[in-house]
Amino acid sequence: MTEQQASQRVSELHRLLTTYNHEYYVMDQPSVPDVEYDRLMRELILLEAEFPQLKQADSPSQRVGGEALKAFTQVTHQIPMLSLDNVFSPQEWQAFAKRIEERAKSANTIAFCAEPKLDGLAVSLRYENGYLVQAATRGDGAVGENITENIKTIKAIPLKLSGEIYPSVLEVRGEVFMPKASFEKLNEAAIKKGEKTFANPRNAAAGSLRQLDSKITAKRNLSFYAYGLGFVSEQVQGQVEQNWLATSHYQRLQQVKLLGLPVCPEVKLLDDADQVEGFYQHILQTREALDYEIDGTVFKVDDIRLQEKLGFVARAPRWATAYKFPAQEELTTLDDVEFQVGRTGAITPVARLSPVFVGGVTVSNATLHNQDEIERLGIKIKDTVVIRRAGDVIPQIVSVVLDKRPDNARTIEFPTRCPVCQSDVLRLEGEAVLRCTGGLYCGAQRKEAIKHFSSRKALDIDGLGDKLVEQLVDEKLIQTPADLFSLTELDISTMERMGQKSAQNLVQAIEKARHTTLAKFIYALGIREVGETTAANLAQHFLTFDAIKDADEDALQDVPDVGKIVAKNIVQFFAQAHNVEVVEALEGIMTWPDIIVKTEAQQPLKDLTYVITGTLSQMGRSDAKAYLQSLGAKVSGSISAKTDYLVAGEKAGSKLTKAQSLGVKVLTEEDLIALLTEHEVSL
Ligand code: IVH
Repeated sequence: MTEQQASQRVSELHRLLTTYNHEYYVMDQPSVPDVEYDRLMRELILLEAEFPQLKQADSPSQRVGGEALKAFTQVTHQIPMLSLDNVFSPQEWQAFAKRIEERAKSANTIAFCAEPKLDGLAVSLRYENGYLVQAATRGDGAVGENITENIKTIKAIPLKLSGEIYPSVLEVRGEVFMPKASFEKLNEAAIKKGEKTFANPRNAAAGSLRQLDSKITAKRNLSFYAYGLGFVSEQVQGQVEQNWLATSHYQRLQQVKLLGLPVCPEVKLLDDADQVEGFYQHILQTREALDYEIDGTVFKVDDIRLQEKLGFVARAPRWATAYKFPAQEELTTLDDVEFQVGRTGAITPVARLSPVFVGGVTVSNATLHNQDEIERLGIKIKDTVVIRRAGDVIPQIVSVVLDKRPDNARTIEFPTRCPVCQSDVLRLEGEAVLRCTGGLYCGAQRKEAIKHFSSRKALDIDGLGDKLVEQLVDEKLIQTPADLFSLTELDISTMERMGQKSAQNLVQAIEKARHTTLAKFIYALGIREVGETTAANLAQHFLTFDAIKDADEDALQDVPDVGKIVAKNIVQFFAQAHNVEVVEALEGIMTWPDIIVKTEAQQPLKDLTYVITGTLSQMGRSDAKAYLQSLGAKVSGSISAKTDYLVAGEKAGSKLTKAQSLGVKVLTEEDLIALLTEHEVSL
């Protein structure tokens, strides 16, 4: 590529990337997908590396960050960056408005610019001749830190102002923040990597902005809304007239927006002080739906001349105030931790807190999720903790205040036995939760165990719906699946919406379920991660129930589909005396035919691997799978070079394409039926 060609392409890329950025971050209307942006950015970076002389002052390539700094330099603000006073109630707001009216000494009503109070970090951006030349933090209001390189990575902030008309020097002030979605992603990634998480988006934004290495900031997806101006030169480029700057704060924000800087879309001009409460309530209601954190609203006298007349007290203007929301975070103490057993056996630690008023309600409990979470927080009983309740979200413990840890703080001990049924608890490798292994017996898991036992793919007890199971358990008529078999018509007919006829039918259905297959019986026990296929494989492999019960982890792992985790689950299940009690009762009640070992001749599809995809019209996919398995075939869920046949039904998708590309033979449903008929499988 000649330099001239490169120069043309660089300008083109420059223009495209700037436009796409603006569309995405300022207009909220992207016209191309992210990958296209990334592709063009890569192309620009490569071209600039090859032709450094083509790199322009406002090149979008600066968005990816530059060389790391040793320290931040200091920036003295030409006009100090002030803070705001607060009000917390309608009465306080009215008092504030009244003071302004008295000082204004005018009969005119006072208009206010209403804005959300963004919960991020204040920054000042300095544009000279349209180019972003310097960005600084607020610091102590007089002197801040030079964070220009970091700010350049924020795509919502233009490196060059749009249009032709702007003051030669323009300082735009506003808030840098991390959108909630980005914050959650960042923390999820940190948890996965076992790194420390940020307590809230504000801390995440601060941590990301105060990085000496701007390449890190570039990865953090920060954003920005402008809410005011700092120094503005009188000289205006591109126009002769000097009165470029509006005298309404709201209008100034519109001017800033026209120059390409994002302004929060919730900003509104209010005619008078009486409209303030309505705006506050509206923003409070919309708060959860916004993609950025706010902690209140801000009201500013709109007329700049009146602002100037009102002036400042100490470090805050008299013409503006924050009207804050009730706190969403509070301090309290962790009094104790209790363990709850869920209906699937998951054991969750629940924090018992000294009651505290936060986010508008009194909170005395919070979930601690699991052991990892407790370790991550480094929390002990009697610790002072930060509790957060945002909107309708369940209260969370955000962090521990280590400075306040008392001498008698206790480590949280996890139970080794289920607090409900005393069975062993198990935490499997790679799993965050602790589980009770007394699935068949445990009071907390009773209802789910019985529902599963009678479900269609297990013993298929017709007429025993979930609601009825719940009633029978609540009325203490049954406690374990074995108790089902002693239910009488009279017991059942006393249940809600149960006539004599349906009671009679149900007793018959239960009676019928006594006779099943070994595979279905194993599946019905509801051992964790033992699904239909695993149950069938276990039955085929061990042939008798006793053999399965007695098998150790190694022996179990010889069964197709059974890995370390499933083997552990099975061994633990049968190691619980409580489960065994129920299982033995069931063995006394139920029967299943012996499994006849198939000879080689009866397993014509042995050593062949099938995959089934798409919709079959004559049978379900699980039926097809069972038929093929009965002939000795292995049925797998994914296509590989090792697959022998793909059975493709209607609307087969990517598996069919993959099979074709790998040269795997494809069978239609008709081919499958022909194959099954040939081997005398009765459909
Ligand atoms: S105006 C002279 N407007 O609140 C007035 N500040 O307590 C200067 N903030 O440091 C600030 N949203 O970080 C203003 N719409 C908004 C704001 C806002 C958030 C922050 C800002 C400032 C602090 C003042």
